[in-house]
Amino acid sequence: MAFPINRPRRLRRTETLRRMIRETRLSPDNLIQPFFVCPGRDVKRPVTSMPGVAQLSVDNVVSAARETHAAGVPAIILFGIPERKDAVGSEAWNDSGEVQRAIREIKERVPGLCVITDVCMCEYTDHGHCGAIVGTEVDNDASLELLVREALSHARAGADIVAPSDMMDGRVGAIRAALDQNGFAHVAIMAYSAKFASAFYGPFREAAESAPKFGDRRSYQMDPPNGDEAMREVALDLDEGADIVMVKPALPYLDLIYRVKQEFNVPVAAYNVSGEYSMIRAAGLNGWLDEERTIMEVLTSIRRAGADLILTYFATEVAKKIQR
Ligand code: PBG
Repeated sequence: MAFPINRPRRLRRTETLRRMIRETRLSPDNLIQPFFVCPGRDVKRPVTSMPGVAQLSVDNVVSAARETHAAGVPAIILFGIPERKDAVGSEAWNDSGEVQRAIREIKERVPGLCVITDVCMCEYTDHGHCGAIVGTEVDNDASLELLVREALSHARAGADIVAPSDMMDGRVGAIRAALDQNGFAHVAIMAYSAKFASAFYGPFREAAESAPKFGDRRSYQMDPPNGDEAMREVALDLDEGADIVMVKPALPYLDLIYRVKQEFNVPVAAYNVSGEYSMIRAAGLNGWLDEERTIMEVLTSIRRAGADLILTYFATEVAKKIQR
């Protein structure tokens, strides 16, 4: 039926009507709040390139996690900034490292909160790459062993979900096998499956002090033009035992969030990464965009594309806004 019988504007007349036919909803349940855990006590070190985000010591992460939980956000993801770095990133599996202590404290003090940990070497290695260097390359199979140690250490501390973000081949299977063999069959894996070598990670590398000292990450992270390959990466991770698969970044890859959800029909996460955050913050601070509306539009669109979960630095403030 065509105009004038059909008039789509009829259902846009009032907010009540719009509410009634709204197709996509953003709930605090969909959100995951990232935190950067640094050494020390009562430390809150603002990240210059991410206004509103700071590196926090364990005590401050616990209070921030409590606030996130109170706002209705079910989960957080922790990134560690270790006291010292070395060639293999051995602080990553130190059972009394920053992340491990944060997990234990949060599980004890904010028991209802789901604690996810980022499993990667780049924050822990002195060269800043996501695995072990052999010769001049990031060696895949040597890296698996390090990632397994890190994931086990996080599981021992009480992590509910481990999230490998390194993009080595076979890491999901290696971590799954190690978790199962060590009494952690209940610990889930959220795999950064389609993780692209993106310019949008710039601010994160300041926040996590993880910029590579030489070269770049293009020999392990994906080439941005490749969509079919992203589907293959997701299929491999699911075969290896991933419980949740992730597309990262989110906004430039909405097509892939959609494809992954359509094709695999499994829980899909999308990472609204640091650069996506900083763009909105910067424009908001300059008065160029209505920040609150922009954030809601972006996160709702990531949901509409098919993401069940969104990792976003806006999580807590958005959840508070939704609750109001
Ligand atoms: C670690 C990791 C990165 C991000 C999450 N885990 C950075 C990278 O790969 O360089 C990026 C998150 C963000 O930009 O918000 N490998």
